Amino acid sequence: MQVGVIGAGTMGAGIAQVAAQNKCEVILFDTNQTILEKAKTNLDKTLNKMVEKGKITQEQQTHIAKSITYTTDNTLFKSCELIIEAIVENLEVKKKVFSELEKIVNSECILATNTSSLSVTSIAAACEQAERVIGIHFFNPAPLMALVEIVPAIQTNQVVEQNAIAIIKSWGKTTVVTKDTPGFIVNRIARPYYSEALRIYDEGIASMFTIDLIMKSEAGFKMGPFELMDMIGHDVNYVVTETVWTNMYFDPRYKPSLTQKRLLEAGWLGKKSGRGFYDYTSSEIVAVTPDYDEELFRKVKNRILVMLFNEAGDAVYYNIASEEDIETAMTKGVNYPKGLLAWAKEFGHENIKQQLDELYNFYKEDRYRCSPYFKK
Ligand code: NAI
Repeated sequence: MQVGVIGAGTMGAGIAQVAAQNKCEVILFDTNQTILEKAKTNLDKTLNKMVEKGKITQEQQTHIAKSITYTTDNTLFKSCELIIEAIVENLEVKKKVFSELEKIVNSECILATNTSSLSVTSIAAACEQAERVIGIHFFNPAPLMALVEIVPAIQTNQVVEQNAIAIIKSWGKTTVVTKDTPGFIVNRIARPYYSEALRIYDEGIASMFTIDLIMKSEAGFKMGPFELMDMIGHDVNYVVTETVWTNMYFDPRYKPSLTQKRLLEAGWLGKKSGRGFYDYTSSEIVAVTPDYDEELFRKVKNRILVMLFNEAGDAVYYNIASEEDIETAMTKGVNYPKGLLAWAKEFGHENIKQQLDELYNFYKEDRYRCSPYFKK
């Protein structure tokens, strides 16, 4: 099948690679010729490495490389069956691109957006055939991450949804379906991992070293919240939090942290800029191993976990996605050690409710309100 990708940046180039590896003919379009050339050079390097590691044969490499047409001419989209847009995260720009696209493609073509924070419904509304527009949200890096969130807009036709799922599954990805709401599944439910850790740090309850250590050694996460935020980059992580918070009508559960905002303002974006919460420029080992303090360790771990459970339970309660898809999303999209709902069951719903109520009663903040999911 012929697939079009709009935008040859980080995500677009990755999505084009995934489609090409799965025997699609890909038209990769960008308005910037230099970016297209860079995408081609990077893919050639990646494919060479894959051959060296024995992941693909030389014939496959040649075939994949040949399957992608790099172009600044979007009329080549004419006979595509699916177009995935991965341009700048700006609603007005995306709307313009989608409405122009409709004049080029045939009426059967599915139009998808890779947006991580905008309303798919708003983007669809820019099209005459809004029912063929859908969100297909890949994770970075697209060729390596198994999870893809499928986001039907309220206008999306069910056949379009089923076809989109079938195509993405045929590319070897795991799909989950989510309501068109801020953060979809992963970016919504994962918020407390960062924000509750920041809150605990801001209150001086524990240092970032301690919190990172606790979440790894006591809770089984691969990375602690602070090192993870540094890896994601504060420009991305802070903006996702702020966007979810704003779009959830300033629900205090998603309130961003000023501490993280200051890092962003300072240009301390994390690993990529050499400095974030941690300093990556120094060869000295910066991590300080904290002394084991059973009570503190349990308190920190439980506080972050119950906030994560609360978020997952609330997403079920408000029908953001099925329980099964929520479990899949958090284990495959962000590699959580266990599905949060199964974990919540082990932890005990009554226990979760009690711990949240304690936080709520102490702080008197809506942030700590227990989801009806745990009250039932
Ligand atoms: P990027 O900045 O790396 O790439 C965007 C590309 O779009 C650039 O090459 C730019 O030249 C091109 N572009 C801009 N306007 C265009 C237009 N009108 N027509 C054609 N090309 C145009 O951005 P990135 O990070 O790849 O993000 C793209 C989309 O994917 C955004 O909607 C973002 O929210 C979403 N996303 C990003 C993730 C990430 O981790 N970077 C993860 C999942 C989704």
